[in-house]
Amino acid sequence: MTEAAAIAASRWMGRGDKNGADGAAVDAMRLVLETVPMDGMVVIGEGEKDEAPMLFNGERIGDGTLPQVDIAVDPIDGTRPTALGRGGALAVIALAERGAMFDPGPCVYMRKIAVGPEAAGRISLELSPAENLREIAKAKRTTVADLTAIVLDRPRHEELIDQIRSAGARILLITDGDVAGAISTAWRDSGADVLFGVGGTPEGVIAAAALKAMGGEIVGRLWPRSDKERAAALAAGYDLDAVLTTDDLVRGDNCFFSATGITDGELLRGVRYDGTGATTHSLVMRSRTGTVRVVEARHRLEKLRQFQLLGPG
Ligand code: FBP
Repeated sequence: MTEAAAIAASRWMGRGDKNGADGAAVDAMRLVLETVPMDGMVVIGEGEKDEAPMLFNGERIGDGTLPQVDIAVDPIDGTRPTALGRGGALAVIALAERGAMFDPGPCVYMRKIAVGPEAAGRISLELSPAENLREIAKAKRTTVADLTAIVLDRPRHEELIDQIRSAGARILLITDGDVAGAISTAWRDSGADVLFGVGGTPEGVIAAAALKAMGGEIVGRLWPRSDKERAAALAAGYDLDAVLTTDDLVRGDNCFFSATGITDGELLRGVRYDGTGATTHSLVMRSRTGTVRVVEARHRLEKLRQFQLLGPG
């Protein structure tokens, strides 16, 4: 599913058309999702869209047979980098047993801290960034100065960035893509130790599925942008003070995660095309077994044509 989305989206790389790229990725992902033997419910989709065959929240997908699953899709995490031809965009999907995924409802953003296995169980939203960094350093038997924190480069993070700098840790500012940011804290040799900051709630749920499989941890709290969003969240019954643990975001121990590189990034290479087809680079994980597979796949041109995955122009 993510290979199809990435192949389709990557054709739009650098064309300056976010909607074109997103539409292509959604259509491709849907094409494959429909063939999967499952009774899938989209818990996290592309949002309600009128006419177009989008993957909207609450939509049923799959061939309708068992198992019943929850699905979270982000056909492009990094729509802007894809449209601008910048690195780090991924096609991602997570699946879990029915009822296992946190439904973000109207809550677009959440505050997050994510770490890999060595520091799992040591982070807390009640602690300051400096205190969290000290805990992570202890857990990793190193010093705060050796740690690298990933933060989305956004004005809302000015104070957070100052606090991390004062604590003495290094910072990797990313322009987009905090799913990849969260995963990289659990990825050996990525050079990243912790992700801090406010990013998408859907991305938080998807990252939780990946971190579960990798033995990492994510904690979060919903972060309404405005009084209107706060009121909508409260009216829908959300507790804005509650700490969301990895388990709150994805319950149980049977979830799946897959990501395929659209453009080149730290974790995955983007899609390569040549005269005979395309090559993709993906991660596939399952929490029950804790297996993380890195998959390089070759896709033949005539099949890509058959599935209309060759994009514009
Ligand atoms: P999309 O490409 O799906 O829009 O998400 C990109 C992203 O960078 C996410 O990884 C992140 O969680 C979110 O946007 C942050 O939102 P914003 O750009 O509004 O700060």
